Amino acid sequence: MIARRPAVNGSTTIAVSLGLPSMDPEVWRKDVRRAKERIGRGQMLVVSVVGTPSVTDGIDAFIADYALCATWASEAGADAIEVHLAVPNPFGEPGQMVYEHVPLAAQILYRVRTSVSVPVLAKLGIFRTPRALHETATKLAPWAHGFVLVHAIPRRVVDDEGKAAFEGREWAEVVGSATFPVASRQVEELLVWRRAGAWPHAILAVGGISTDERARHLLREGADGVLVATAALFDPLFAARCRQALAASAVA
Ligand SMILES: Cc1cc2nc3c(=O)[nH]c(=O)nc-3n(C[C@H](O)[C@H](O)[C@H](O)COP(=O)(O)O)c2cc1C
Repeated sequence: MIARRPAVNGSTTIAVSLGLPSMDPEVWRKDVRRAKERIGRGQMLVVSVVGTPSVTDGIDAFIADYALCATWASEAGADAIEVHLAVPNPFGEPGQMVYEHVPLAAQILYRVRTSVSVPVLAKLGIFRTPRALHETATKLAPWAHGFVLVHAIPRRVVDDEGKAAFEGREWAEVVGSATFPVASRQVEELLVWRRAGAWPHAILAVGGISTDERARHLLREGADGVLVATAALFDPLFAARCRQALAASAVA
């Protein structure tokens, strides 16, 4: 069967169920070095890192593995480390994400921050309330230079019969265009807290940015940068064109 690509119309939304696979460290470290050699002037390489949990080694080893990945990424040329905290907490309640366990998230950030000299960004997922977002960001702020949000929206993805659409995994991460209203609202909430003087950290927006108008909107609101994933999967030159469009509208 040939999988047909959806039309490139800037409105792609996908459900992703990958788990957290990784190439061997030697492979990805080489990739990071290659990427660093190829990026252009004015571009920066942000490398997202996550610890590999082991039930036998426990929580300290999980935290240490985040720090080791960050060290390797930084040695390989990362200009900033994105600490991916929107992943399942293997030591928490089922369904709990690492960023939802603030003491664990803070410890991970602390270990990463004291292991590397480049800026450290905390990648966060969706919050149930603006208050929870504010409280978490405020508690994590001492250990991070900035925040990246919203990683994805976890949802049950089922087939016509109500069974898990992805074998063995009921939950998947929804990313792409349709997440923009929810993701951008949360970015705007964090921007409001920053304007109110909560902390001066960088705020990088992600989640459903699929048109240059969406990117422009968040930059106007005060985001320090906008990141794209799904739009670039279906249209690899999306970010380059978006930058051109933003530059043109800034000149006009
Ligand atoms: C196939 C795929 C793989 C991803 N892998 C990672 C990852 O390894 N680390 C990470 O921090 N985010 C990862 N993401 C999440 C993206 O960085 C981004 O937060 C998310 O896709 C929302 O942005 P979007 O709506 O532009 O896709 C991945 C997304 C996709 C689609």
